[in-house]
Amino acid sequence: MTRLDAYNRPISYLRVSVTDRCNLRCVYCMPPQGVPRRPHEEILRYEEIEVIVRVAARLGISKVRLTGGEPLARLGLVELVRMIARIPGIDDLAMTTNGTLLARYARELAAAGLQRVNISLDTLRPERFQLITRRGRLEDVLAGMEAAHRAGLHPVKINTVVMRGLNDDEIVELARKTVDDGWHVRFIELMPLVNGDTMYAQWQERVVTAREIRQSIEAALGALEPATLDAGNGPARYYRLPGARGTVGFITPLSEHFCYGCNRMRLTADGHLRPCLLSDYEIDLRTPLRSGAGAAAIEALLLRAIDSKPQSHHLAELLVPERRVMSEIGG
Ligand code: 5AD
Ligand code: SF4
Repeated sequence: MTRLDAYNRPISYLRVSVTDRCNLRCVYCMPPQGVPRRPHEEILRYEEIEVIVRVAARLGISKVRLTGGEPLARLGLVELVRMIARIPGIDDLAMTTNGTLLARYARELAAAGLQRVNISLDTLRPERFQLITRRGRLEDVLAGMEAAHRAGLHPVKINTVVMRGLNDDEIVELARKTVDDGWHVRFIELMPLVNGDTMYAQWQERVVTAREIRQSIEAALGALEPATLDAGNGPARYYRLPGARGTVGFITPLSEHFCYGCNRMRLTADGHLRPCLLSDYEIDLRTPLRSGAGAAAIEALLLRAIDSKPQSHHLAELLVPERRVMSEIGG
């Protein structure tokens, strides 16, 4: 049975960050020099993640998403997928990835029980891709997408963070992919997260609201009709362009509060439960796990985390988390 939090929201979804490392350095996510890596022993072992997910499943969590950093940057991730896929009660297992390593792993991941992937992709231009990710190669991501499709990791969703002056001139081109190639593209409003870089300082100039994005798309490609893509439990709203197989989605952390429908909790790679992406409040599970706490004690901590989910975030007042950067939370 799914648990309700203090605001009557059913908590059915756990995002599990498996590593704080990433092979890219996206400008909105990490400072250019990266983030000091947490010592290996601070990172949960796969067996420890498995224990936590089992307890969560008993509390009514049915959906798990693996995130990072870059989840595929962690060795043996396919094994973790296998471990989680066989936990009773977990009926939806997905991953958010930058796609650069997906060509290599898509088939194995699908065979191990991964059901689908979200791929972060902000541009279709190779030079620009390097500018935004500071080190990646676009062709690797496109190959990863292709491999994900072939492996049946459907629907493959593309996440695009829109930044004025960086990639806002590609909105229409990306939206057109939903018509021409059946892509599912979700446009995300840039969040002003502290990342030791200029993106936070420049946030006011860089942010593009979903409303603006939508206007550009409709002016060029026609009216967007409401559509559904998944069970409607995520923060995205979906639309379809005339004649499109794919969908255009909007994730609007700024312009529209989606907190009232929030169904998720997060587990950081170093074993802390984070009830809200945008609040630094966390509950340590690693210490109790490693000092012999049993399933009942872990369950009590999970319940406490569910109970402490805040009603909403305070992005509008620019109250943002400071203790971790995005790559350590997993989006
Ligand atoms: N604003 C909006 N989205 C972000 N992501 C990472 N940092 C930010 C930010 N500052 C998104 C990435 C990725 C997901 C994990 O989180 O696009 O798809
Ligand atoms: Fe890595 Fe994703 Fe952060 Fe880019 S957004 S640096 S791919 S974790």
